[in-house]
Amino acid sequence: MNIHEQKILILDFGSQTTQLIARRIREQKVYCEIHPFSTALDKIKALQPTGIVLSGGPRSVYDKDAPHSDPAIFDLGIPILGICYGAQMMMQQLGGRVENADMREFGKADLHVAYTEGLFAGLEADNAKHQVWMSHGDRIEVMADGFEVTATSDHSPFAALRHKEKPFVAVQFHPEVVHTLIGTDVLRNFIFGICNCKPDWTMASFIESTVKGIQEKVGDAKVLCALSGGVDSSVTAALVHKAIGDQLTCIYVNNGLMRIGESEAILRFFREKTQLNVIDVNATEFFLSELHEVVDPEVKRKRIGLGFIKIFEEEATKLGEVNYLAQGTLYPDVIESVSFMGQAPIKSHHNVGGLPEVMKLDLIEPLRELFKDEVRELGLELGLPQEAIYRQPFPGPGLGIRIMGEVNEERLDILRQADVIVLEEMKKSGWYRKVWQSFAVLLPIQTVGVMGDNRTYENVVAIRCVDSKDAMTADWSKLPYDILGIISNRIINEVRGVNRVVYDISSKPPATIEWE
Ligand code: XMP
Repeated sequence: MNIHEQKILILDFGSQTTQLIARRIREQKVYCEIHPFSTALDKIKALQPTGIVLSGGPRSVYDKDAPHSDPAIFDLGIPILGICYGAQMMMQQLGGRVENADMREFGKADLHVAYTEGLFAGLEADNAKHQVWMSHGDRIEVMADGFEVTATSDHSPFAALRHKEKPFVAVQFHPEVVHTLIGTDVLRNFIFGICNCKPDWTMASFIESTVKGIQEKVGDAKVLCALSGGVDSSVTAALVHKAIGDQLTCIYVNNGLMRIGESEAILRFFREKTQLNVIDVNATEFFLSELHEVVDPEVKRKRIGLGFIKIFEEEATKLGEVNYLAQGTLYPDVIESVSFMGQAPIKSHHNVGGLPEVMKLDLIEPLRELFKDEVRELGLELGLPQEAIYRQPFPGPGLGIRIMGEVNEERLDILRQADVIVLEEMKKSGWYRKVWQSFAVLLPIQTVGVMGDNRTYENVVAIRCVDSKDAMTADWSKLPYDILGIISNRIINEVRGVNRVVYDISSKPPATIEWE
C-alpha cells in the first residue's frame, strides 16, 4: 500500500545525523522514509520515491567493504541528493574520484556559492560566505563526467556539485545540522525546487490516510490494544478507534507499579470523553508475588514483561476471536538502520513486543512512521488532553525498576509519596516540561539521621532529573538549588521512613537514565 503520493527516500549509510535529515524534511511537510543503503532496486522502485537522499556515513568509499547502494538508482530518472559520504559515493559510482584528504575538515566552514539556482536558489551569490558544517576525512578530487561545481570552501574545491543535465546534486557539508545556517534553504530547494514536492503532509492528512488504511486492513475484524497510560498507546488507541469504533477493545493492566494517579487520568479521559471500550484489570497482587524477593534488575524486567503478556493473554481469550493487536511503535524503533557496531542491548526493554507472536496476532502500528513530537501533535489533533500528551516518559516496568532491591508494598508506598512530591514541585516551578524526565529512586541502603532528639536509621531517596532529546544520551539537569532544597525538605518531612535525599549528577553514558 503506497498511501503517500509523494515521498523522499533516504538511503542510510550509517551517519549519526540520518534521522535528522528525515526530521528536517518532514518539518517542511513532505513525507520521507529512511531505508538501509543496501535496499534492493526493486524495493526502491516499489516505494515510488519522488526524490532520494544519500546520507552521510563513517566509512571511506574506497574501503574494501564500504557500503554502496545499487548504482542503477542513477538510471531511475529520480532526483538524487548526496550528502557527505553520499556525495562521495555518487561521484565514485558515476566515474569521479575520491581521496583521503591531507587535512580532515571538521566543524564550521565558509561556503562560497557560485550559482544561486538549484540547491542554492534564493541565497546570496558570488563571494558571499555562508556558514556550513563539515565533517569528513575524504574529499572529492575529480568530478564525475557531466558535473559542475556549484560551491567551494577553503578545503573543498568541490563542496557542492550538480549534474548539468540530470537532477543529481551533491554537497560535502551537512545541510541537516543546525550549524549549517543555510541548511533549511538547501533542503527546501531540493525537495520543492528539484523534486517538485508539495508541502501537503500534515497531521490532518496523516489521520485521513491512516484511518482509511486501518479500515481497509481490518475490515470487520476485532482489534485489541494494550493501554499503558503513556502517550504512544493512548494516541494509538484514539486513532484506531476513530477508524473502527467498537471493533477496538483496549486492555489496561494495572501491574501495581504505577505512580499515584498515573493512569487514572487517561482511563478517565477515555471513559468520559470517548466511546472507547476499556477493560481495566487490577493485577497488583500477581505482579508483587512475581517480584517477591527478586533483586536482580534483569530478572525484575523479565518477570514484569512476561507477567504482562500472561495477564493480557488471559483477558484477550475471554473476548473471543481477535485478529489484530494495535501497538504504539514509533519510527525510531523501526528504522532498519545501518548498525556498524552491532551492540547488544544494555537493558531488556519491556513493551508489548512479545505479544504478537505468543497470541498469533497481526500487528497494526499506525505510529510507525512518526517521531515522538509528531505523535504529540497527532494526539492534540485527535483531541487528547495536554496533560496526557506532555507527560514525561515512564518505563514499562514502572516503579519496579526505581526501587533498588526488593519491591514490596511498603517500599512502593515510600517511593510513591516521594515521587509525587518531585512531580508536584517540578510542575509548580515550571521545570516539569523543561526536562526530559524527573523522578525519585528508592535506594537499598539506610543511613543515620537525627529527628528531634532521636537518632534515625532510615531510607535514602535519590532524585534523578535529566535533559535529553531522544533518551539515547542525557545530561543531568542543572535544577536550581532552591527547587532541589524544597524537594529534599518536603520528602524528608513528609515521607515517613526517609531521612536523606541525594541528587544524581551522572550523565548517560556512562550511566543510564533509569537506575536499573
Ligand atoms: P535508560 O535507563 O535505558 O532509559 O537510559 C532510556 C529511556 O527509556 C525509558 N525506559 C523504558 N521504557 N520500557 C519502556 O517503555 C522499558 O523497559 C524501559 N526502560 C527504560 C526510560 O524511562 C528513559 O526514558
